[in-house]
Amino acid sequence: MDARILLTTSPDLAESLKWSCDAVALLLPAKREDWRVCAELAALIDDAVASGDLKLEAGKSLYVHRPAGLKSGRLYLAVVGEGGAKAFKRASQALAGQVKSAPVKTLHLAWAGATVLAADTVEAIVSAFADAVYLYRHTKPSAPAAPALRTLSVAAPKAEPAATREGLKRAAAICAGVDVAREAGNRPGNHCTPTWLAEQAKAMAAEFGLGIEVLDRKACTKLGMGSFLAVAQGSDEPLQFIVLKYEGAGKKDAPVVLVGKGITFDTGGISLKPGAEMDEMKFDMGGAASVLGTLRAVAELKPKVNLIGLIPTCENMPSGRAIKPGDVVTSMSGQTIEILNTDAEGRLILCDALTYAERFKPKAVVDIATLTGAIIIALGHHHSGLYASDEALAEQLLAASRTALDPAWRMPLDDEYDEGLKSSYADIPNIGSRAGGSVTAAMFLKRFTKAYAWAHLDVAGTAFRGGPTKGATGRPVPLLTHFVLANAG
Ligand code: BES
Ligand code: MN
Ligand code: ZN
Repeated sequence: MDARILLTTSPDLAESLKWSCDAVALLLPAKREDWRVCAELAALIDDAVASGDLKLEAGKSLYVHRPAGLKSGRLYLAVVGEGGAKAFKRASQALAGQVKSAPVKTLHLAWAGATVLAADTVEAIVSAFADAVYLYRHTKPSAPAAPALRTLSVAAPKAEPAATREGLKRAAAICAGVDVAREAGNRPGNHCTPTWLAEQAKAMAAEFGLGIEVLDRKACTKLGMGSFLAVAQGSDEPLQFIVLKYEGAGKKDAPVVLVGKGITFDTGGISLKPGAEMDEMKFDMGGAASVLGTLRAVAELKPKVNLIGLIPTCENMPSGRAIKPGDVVTSMSGQTIEILNTDAEGRLILCDALTYAERFKPKAVVDIATLTGAIIIALGHHHSGLYASDEALAEQLLAASRTALDPAWRMPLDDEYDEGLKSSYADIPNIGSRAGGSVTAAMFLKRFTKAYAWAHLDVAGTAFRGGPTKGATGRPVPLLTHFVLANAG
């Protein structure tokens, strides 16, 4: 998983036109009076607008082949509308969509407006390109040749290059983290097994000097993780409980803990899922993948913060040894759980990891999980569902989500939603009412998080896309990385 694009800063716009690269891309303000381009370029663009080839509307783009006076011979234009970094991202997506199918190895990108780009904006631009050039190949050798793009340089104003540099640095780390998450998510269930995830974590730990511990079934049994063990018992693949540690601050600094759901395949178990689209349940380790990706990004950026990643990972399979509806298990917290539906397995593996997190005396715990189909009904595929028992933590995560352009929407956790979580046979059943299914799943988790400030991201709608453009998105690595960076001293 090598970095696909090398990022560099380069001199400002005026000079870039003389640059030798394969193509120049200009992000153009929608308002003509805001353009800061030379007379020749202005004339060329005016002409394209007059002929109707380019509309000065947000997200519109045009390719010009061998324009006079441009050394590189290829010019891409894209119009940036109002709306800050998001508008830049949109225009960059239009550009990247064109560039990725062209024989362009080195691209020089410049903003043709008067303002200095903020670091977040530079990050948004770069992430649009990184997203576009990602290509899954691991199990498809016949996949089309990967996009040619290798080097993306972003013009920085000579007087103030700092924001551009900072944006590029952050973008490089986050995009590499997103790639880690996408690659793990896209691997089929017979490749991305719990053991493979543990190997990835070990390799990453070795490369970046992270602490790592991988607990096996025996160790988890000793800890009393009866709920996690119960889900894993139906599968022949051995479970793994991955603990990753990044120490960027003093030993006494309370860490942030991220917990990722790592179901490498969710058949539903004995409460078997219908066959249609069941293949998409290979993405049920998206939360785990985002924890790996975030640790990768953070380890590169080295902020002064302590971060721990916890990944309970196993398969959810039906078998002669599998859990059955009505089975009662004892979680690590001591609370007993009646498993009414074996397909509500995510919360069963997370609850033990949430109890395990207590030992770190964390300042905050955030779990990330492709937890419910109900969150897709509620929010679709744009916003991740955010639940938090702590107001300040909720605000921090929402702020991170805004700067990272990785949307999340706060969902409720009122006590009233707890009423359905009653069992005659155990302290808690693993399903509540179908109505508000994502909320009741969060209410289940909440019962295991009394010891710290806690938040939960239900990413079932955002960690992957289904249908014809099926694939892992790498979300919410950008949100999580920004959240961790904001926690640095
Ligand atoms: N992994 C699924 C949730 C999911 C569904 C993720 C669709 C991505 C896309 C989860 O384990 C699950 O099966 N949830 C059940 C819960 C129900 C049995 C209470 C669901 O959402 O149907
Ligand atoms: Mn399930
Ligand atoms: Zn699941």
